[in-house]
Amino acid sequence: MDYKLIIAKKLNIEGVSTEELYSFIETPPNNDMGDYALPCFKLSKVMRRPPIIIAQGLEQSFAPDEYISECKAVNGYLNFKINRVGYAKMVLAEVQSLGDNYGSNNIGQNKTICIDYSSINIAKPFHIGHLSTTVIGSSLCKIFRFLGYKVVGINHLGDYGTQFGKLIVAFKKWSSFEAVEKGRLSELTRIYVKYHDEAKIHPEMDDEARRYFKLIEDGDKESNELFELFKKITLEEVEKIYKLLNVNFDSYAGESFYNDKMAPIVDELNEKGLIKISDGASIVDLEEYNMPPCLILKSDGSTLYATRDIAAAVYRKNTYNFDKCLYVVAYQQNLHFKQFFKVLELMGKDWAKDMVHVAYGMVSLESGAMSTRSGNVVLLEDVIAKTIEKARTIIEEKNPNLKDKDKVASAVGTGAVIFGALCNNKIKDITFSYDRVLSFEGETCPYVQYTVARCNSVIVKCAKQGEYSVNEMHPSEYGVISHLGRFPEVVKNAGEKYEPSYVTRYALDLATAFNKFYIDCKIAVEDDNTRNFRLAITKAVKITLTNALTLLGIETVEEM
Ligand code: ARG
Repeated sequence: MDYKLIIAKKLNIEGVSTEELYSFIETPPNNDMGDYALPCFKLSKVMRRPPIIIAQGLEQSFAPDEYISECKAVNGYLNFKINRVGYAKMVLAEVQSLGDNYGSNNIGQNKTICIDYSSINIAKPFHIGHLSTTVIGSSLCKIFRFLGYKVVGINHLGDYGTQFGKLIVAFKKWSSFEAVEKGRLSELTRIYVKYHDEAKIHPEMDDEARRYFKLIEDGDKESNELFELFKKITLEEVEKIYKLLNVNFDSYAGESFYNDKMAPIVDELNEKGLIKISDGASIVDLEEYNMPPCLILKSDGSTLYATRDIAAAVYRKNTYNFDKCLYVVAYQQNLHFKQFFKVLELMGKDWAKDMVHVAYGMVSLESGAMSTRSGNVVLLEDVIAKTIEKARTIIEEKNPNLKDKDKVASAVGTGAVIFGALCNNKIKDITFSYDRVLSFEGETCPYVQYTVARCNSVIVKCAKQGEYSVNEMHPSEYGVISHLGRFPEVVKNAGEKYEPSYVTRYALDLATAFNKFYIDCKIAVEDDNTRNFRLAITKAVKITLTNALTLLGIETVEEM
């Protein structure tokens, strides 16, 4: 329901289009004076009168209706109050009839959006540094689907590079199939770290590693079998985490997928006269755009990260014909994205403008930056295990007779991790702290999940809900309803700004408004009308909070 549009249409002023009027209407910072305001000085020129007179004239000819209950002229402003009773009826009816779909939209109809996210590196531990891209990307997939887009979620695996040669060397020296089967990802990390320690003393190991990597590329059977094993182990391990976090992908086409798709790109760059040779390497000069050159081929002819990204972008355009292609990657890689987007533009791809780097802040530890090589990492698996365990302990303490304790502990524990990562504006840097994710007080996921469970218990207790009519409302009742009505707009904005934190903040606000209402207004009262109305509010809150959490990838529970 777009009240600005309703007001703009209703005013109907000669010489001013509805669109123009619409753009003049403001939402005042506090709604004591009204819910919307029209600054009439914007009309002085066309109407050739002072704002105060215009406002008075418009007030007089305004007739209240089921949408707008009041229109008052104050100092050259026209202040409008929406008809709260009408609004409440409409919002509650809409939430109830749309249910799971409340907040959804069809603005994305017939549009495709590719989202490159998580994009983990094979044979490296899945640490909390990958949490942001994974949960932001996953939530954006859900948000855009909700907005009607066709979404292609892509895990652009880091499965290419000399580090795989290094791993083969390390495997042959210090590991075995049995050890890898048993130790899984931690065994791969162990030998990778050991390799880097040893290579400091024996730099000739690096030559061997390069040789093995070349063998992988050339299709050598044994080397590829080992490479595939490392990949399989990594994917099996991360799959467990993806499952917990409700994360899914439509494609796992990683860097090595583009092995045979880069030569045509290099040819095209050459044909278009974009390649320059510098110290034997092939580069695209970007000096004119104040950027260092984009490296396409090293002097030994091998390709680079950017080469694969260019090939991947072209492949995605050809395969999915996307309207937008997003990359959820830390801002550390700002330059890389700017560079290869520019190269695509120089190649004459007019769709280069549809590529978006959705940058987010860095995660570091209290003990400094994370590094796989030095072993200074916090594994996501450990974090999730600890939050689940903490949830379990609290349940045992506070509600030992709860059904499905494991399920609830898992939803609360993983929810806390996801919510924590989606709570703030995505560009902010974060210092990871166990205390923070393990804190279940205040503005946290358990608070929102608890609110859903509270709604549910009210609904169960009151049993059946009958008809009601809406009359004067308690401010706390209206407070909840005005939040409920905002949800569709919040989802739309979250998509437009690539900012799942809008949904997170919204869930907290709605939960707070509900809990205030719960304290101020008794729900299970004698009076049928009041009880039914309050019950309808409670049901709508349960639906809307559930939808919000679902968009974040978080499960709700009926009881906790
Ligand atoms: N694997 C890369 C990393 O961990 C991220 C890849 C992001 N996606 C892309 N298309 N470049 O840094």
